Amino acid sequence: MRASPSIIRFISILSALLIPTFAEKKSYVVYLGSHSRDSEIEVSAVEYERVRNSHFTLLGSFLGSEEKAQESIFYSYTRHINGFAAVLDEAEVDQISKHPDVISVFLNRPKKLHTTRSWEFMGLEHDGQIQPSWTEARFGEDAIIANLDTGVWPESKSFSDEGFGPIPPRWKGICQNGQDPTFKCNRKLIGARFFNKGYFAAVGGTVSSSIFDSPRDTEGHGSHTLSTAGGNFVPGASLFGLGNGTAKGGSPKARVVAYKVCGPMTFEGSCYDADILAGFDMAISDGVDVISVSLGGRPQPYEEDSIAIGSFHAVKHGIVVVCSAGNAGPDLATVSNVAPWLITVGASTMDRKLATFLNLGNNISLVGASYSDKRLPNNTFFPIVTAASVKATNASDSNATFCMAGCLDPIKAKGKIVVCLRGENGIVEKGINAASAGAVGMVLANDVSDGNEISSDAHVLPAVQIRYTDGAAVFAYINSTVNPTAYISPPSTLLGIKPAPVMAPFSSRGPNTVTPEIFKPDITAPGVDVIAAYSEAQGPTGESFDKRRTPYFVESGTSMSCPHVSGIAGLLKTLHPDWSPAAIRSAIMTSARTRDNAVERITDDGHIKATPFAYGAGHVHPSQAMDPGLIYDLTNQDYLTFLCSLGYNETNILLFTDETFTCPKPISLVNLNYPSIAVPKLNGSITVTRTVKNVGSSPATYTALVVNPPGLSVDVQPKTLAFATIGDQKSFNVTITATKAGANRDYVFGMLTWSDGKHYVRSQIAVKASD
Ligand SMILES: *[C@@H]1O[C@H](CO)[C@@H](O)[C@H](O)[C@H]1NC(C)=O
Ligand SMILES: *[C@@H]1O[C@H](CO)[C@@H](O)[C@H](O)[C@H]1NC(C)=O
Ligand SMILES: *[C@@H]1O[C@H](CO)[C@@H](O)[C@H](O)[C@H]1NC(C)=O
Ligand SMILES: *[C@@H]1O[C@H](CO)[C@@H](O)[C@H](O)[C@H]1NC(C)=O
Ligand SMILES: *[C@@H]1O[C@H](CO)[C@@H](O)[C@H](O)[C@H]1NC(C)=O
Ligand SMILES: *[C@@H]1O[C@H](CO)[C@@H](O)[C@H](O)[C@H]1NC(C)=O
Ligand SMILES: *[C@@H]1O[C@H](CO)[C@@H](O)[C@H](O)[C@H]1NC(C)=O
Ligand SMILES: *[C@@H]1O[C@H](CO)[C@@H](O)[C@H](O)[C@H]1NC(C)=O
Ligand SMILES: *[C@@H]1O[C@H](CO)[C@@H](O)[C@H](O)[C@H]1NC(C)=O
Repeated sequence: MRASPSIIRFISILSALLIPTFAEKKSYVVYLGSHSRDSEIEVSAVEYERVRNSHFTLLGSFLGSEEKAQESIFYSYTRHINGFAAVLDEAEVDQISKHPDVISVFLNRPKKLHTTRSWEFMGLEHDGQIQPSWTEARFGEDAIIANLDTGVWPESKSFSDEGFGPIPPRWKGICQNGQDPTFKCNRKLIGARFFNKGYFAAVGGTVSSSIFDSPRDTEGHGSHTLSTAGGNFVPGASLFGLGNGTAKGGSPKARVVAYKVCGPMTFEGSCYDADILAGFDMAISDGVDVISVSLGGRPQPYEEDSIAIGSFHAVKHGIVVVCSAGNAGPDLATVSNVAPWLITVGASTMDRKLATFLNLGNNISLVGASYSDKRLPNNTFFPIVTAASVKATNASDSNATFCMAGCLDPIKAKGKIVVCLRGENGIVEKGINAASAGAVGMVLANDVSDGNEISSDAHVLPAVQIRYTDGAAVFAYINSTVNPTAYISPPSTLLGIKPAPVMAPFSSRGPNTVTPEIFKPDITAPGVDVIAAYSEAQGPTGESFDKRRTPYFVESGTSMSCPHVSGIAGLLKTLHPDWSPAAIRSAIMTSARTRDNAVERITDDGHIKATPFAYGAGHVHPSQAMDPGLIYDLTNQDYLTFLCSLGYNETNILLFTDETFTCPKPISLVNLNYPSIAVPKLNGSITVTRTVKNVGSSPATYTALVVNPPGLSVDVQPKTLAFATIGDQKSFNVTITATKAGANRDYVFGMLTWSDGKHYVRSQIAVKASD
């Protein structure tokens, strides 16, 4: 997500109005692990009250009285997650952290949102025909998919309940519409709730408007992601006619639920840890099957990360949790949401491009991006000028170059296409400034630091954003002739683009900085120019003057790729109700494609071969994921063993679980039964163990095929695995040996594939030599 000018303005209003009164007190989450109760019993309100009181007692023992504790605590997590959120000072935090029942105390920090042809591109549809695998999974009709996001626009056709039967009886949630009586759930959107106490505890102030005290989505982000995961088939969905097609989620017949955990936008992010945890706790208790989380923060130790904690409890209850990898790419080691129990999704392109052309008077045609609904007269060329050349006399050159407010001279700019440089102010704001100076169009040129990353925006005038090198060509053309002219074409939809997928430059990359032995991201899915449902509370520019309303909107980000995988998880849940979250992830990962539609390895922008640190196991391939052949499974016990091996205090680990559990002899972290292998410090040689379960046909014999990472040899023992029955499990060892000492100071990549001739069960291997 880029911060639009309206967001920046909003922050300054917020910071002016909402200066916290007690600077020394801050809001914290106190995490106590699990509740020690039998998970099978029906838990009553009396039990929740007992837990709440136990929190008052615990905190009261530090604050001097239970009354003070009641004042301080704004959330008690009573259902599955044990803990509370409270307003405390640093001295209190220090004391509480030392209590034996406390796993961690961490600041209630904000996380950021990671902001219809995609299903066809992934192979669920072919030439408009629905493929049998989608039908076989009954479009996810038994699944309940939830998101933790900015809420939902319930009137969207993507959430209409036409044709839906009764709500599944296992659903235990509610439709909490708060102060918005017009907000209604139905048999498709079966529930909604909102959590904003953590937001207001941290940002200050109270609920200023009823719209924040309801699950209604005023940002568009939550409606977009929820409809991508589980939205209905909606024909004729487009943005200003662009990308016109049938909008639909991955599990179009699933039931959907919105947990709003994000408040009004602020620069730091708007989704606070305390609200995220409350959302997870409730979603687990309400009975959802899949939780989609398109937000994140900087990678943190698991016990201080609300998404890691919340998803740990969700996965323990058999719920699949899918998260966005983040938009901090293309730099390495930027991936967030890296816990081994959740699915981490990167973003790549589809074979559709929404293109706007800039034609110059010298017959050069450049392709750029825009969703402007304003048009120049057909094929009519206009004078094109640099912003600096039409600057107002009272403005500086550099401010004019960026088309800042009041910096263009209306007499000089009138009737011209103005070239503005990216940077300093908002992309849409530049267009507003150009339009108000009388320009007929705007070319937005990337600066050298922006490179090739261009985004489409709903500009208020005919406009096009172009890459850095194309910008240089435009400046050179303007400089080369006396009367330079140009024409900006209307945006158009191009299909069949090759190569695709291409990794999005913004998609966060591995390696995992929290636990390098766990390979992240796990997978990539479409996250560029995705069309899905939107909020009608604001216009497509997000500016208050923008009265346009678009029920469907185009957005990019790992926020958009994450719910694609959530939708696929819904299909797999419907098809294989007995599979664990780890089995579902394994199926999605081992069946992924590492080649693009030009049959080459997936590339980064600019035709450079990408590495698995960008695409993980590869691009998601849902029809294959439904029949993976073998799975790498993991249980709750495995995750607890993992935490033991990470060095978590054994007393603390007991607090995570209601089962009796003792840490076994520490395992090497590389031996967690993950569907990929990462060795961050190879010293000569290492042996890694994995176990696979047969879920294909029986009997079956699989043979190992290996692609050695450069400078290493990979030996698999045994080399064939024979399975007599479905459910049979077999273990194998992978020995990785450096063939040249001193080589591989950087990560190198290889691949292990088990095949029975029908299934290809792939695992990425990443290895770095120790220093
Ligand atoms: C774990 O830490 C707690 C304090 O947080 C301490 O009381 C306990 O003895 C520790 N347990 C182990 C096994 O080290
Ligand atoms: C989208 O396509 C449908 C059918 O192809 C057509 O009826 C409809 O007018 C189109 N909508 C827009 C906005 O172009
Ligand atoms: C541009 O192309 C047209 C037709 O292809 C041609 O007639 C014209 O001379 C060209 N103009 C320039 C400046 O090259
Ligand atoms: C531009 O061309 C399109 C079709 O090519 C036509 O429908 C439209 O009316 C034209 N607009 C103008 C302003 O000439
Ligand atoms: C450029 O714009 C900024 C922000 O509006 C302003 O603070 C600064 O004084 C301007 N610089 C010049 C040289 O006009
Ligand atoms: C320049 O002067 C005009 C007219 O007084 C004013 O509208 C504009 O804001 C000024 N621009 C700057 C950059 O000060
Ligand atoms: C424009 O052209 C002149 C002379 O051809 C050159 O000195 C100058 O650097 C050019 N400016 C730009 C912005 O390309
Ligand atoms: C690598 O292994 C050798 C021999 O086992 C040992 O002497 C050396 O200290 C190890 N180096 C590192 C960095 O662990
Ligand atoms: C893997 O290696 C370990 C020790 O190196 C050995 O005990 C075990 O039997 C091996 N497993 C298989 C399946 O070969």
